[in-house]
Amino acid sequence: RGSPALHVVEESDVADWWPRLGAASEKYTRGVVGVATGSATYPGAGVLSVGGALAGPTGLVRYAGGAREEVVRRYPSVIATDRVVDAGRVQAWVCGSGLGTDERAAAELRAVLAAPVPVVLDADALTLLVDGRLADQLRRRDAPIVITPHDREFTRLCGEEPGADRVAATLRLAAWMNAVVLLKANRTVIGTPDGRAYVNPTGTPALATGGTGDVLAGLLGSLLATGLPAERAAAAAAYLHGLAGREAAQGGPVAAADVADALRPVLARIT
Ligand code: APR
Ligand code: MG
Repeated sequence: RGSPALHVVEESDVADWWPRLGAASEKYTRGVVGVATGSATYPGAGVLSVGGALAGPTGLVRYAGGAREEVVRRYPSVIATDRVVDAGRVQAWVCGSGLGTDERAAAELRAVLAAPVPVVLDADALTLLVDGRLADQLRRRDAPIVITPHDREFTRLCGEEPGADRVAATLRLAAWMNAVVLLKANRTVIGTPDGRAYVNPTGTPALATGGTGDVLAGLLGSLLATGLPAERAAAAAAYLHGLAGREAAQGGPVAAADVADALRPVLARIT
């Protein structure tokens, strides 16, 4: 029986898909990504996801969340507000990393889901989705959704572990959620609701350190905001994230902020 066609992501895919800068590009036509992550408890998740977003191809990053001060201190080019409703127009949202799971976090997630643009849902946003009403709001959405669970998040969402056939598990969740699913691991799998699947070959154990998932979510949001189809954005982000982990590891033990910084030399090389 086996899984349907599985595409192993290649460098040439990423180079082909990557949005080019035209001579007439300006910051708004390059796309604006909104990042609703972090909290007073987890400001670092805000900083790391914004770091991933800034490395991507968008021209502007807007931050809306509980780590405003930390984010702007580290990245002065970011336009920051406290709430999603005050953030202004964006072409994609990233939501969830370090957001928390309290009422305020749930309200921010609802605001993100109400926006008619592609979204990336990570970490605490996935925990909040276990609430059936939010999951229904998600299934009714027209704009694309990418969810980025690791195995425990997958298990919470599905009620069962991914099991041995990770491609089949990814595709099951994608169909059920009507979302592109990026199931994180050593070999990250990306699956679409209509049954296409990709596997990323660039994973490295150097990424097995807290916060690298937040960097991935930010980068993926930036790619979505340029209008790249969700499955390509997810596959390209996973590929580049793995290469950035390898690049960062050349300098010794890796912290997640190093992975965000390593995205630039990686992108300079392959895009
Ligand atoms: N090989 C390749 N890639 C790996 C490996 C590995 N051995 N281990 C982890 N990765 C990659 C994953 O594919 C993913 O892209 O590192 C990233 C880790 O992301 P997450 O699992 O989301 O972890 P992160 O959110 O960064 O960790 C922060 O999340 O669940 C909580 O409490 C947990 O403190 C942790 C926090
Ligand atoms: Mg995570």
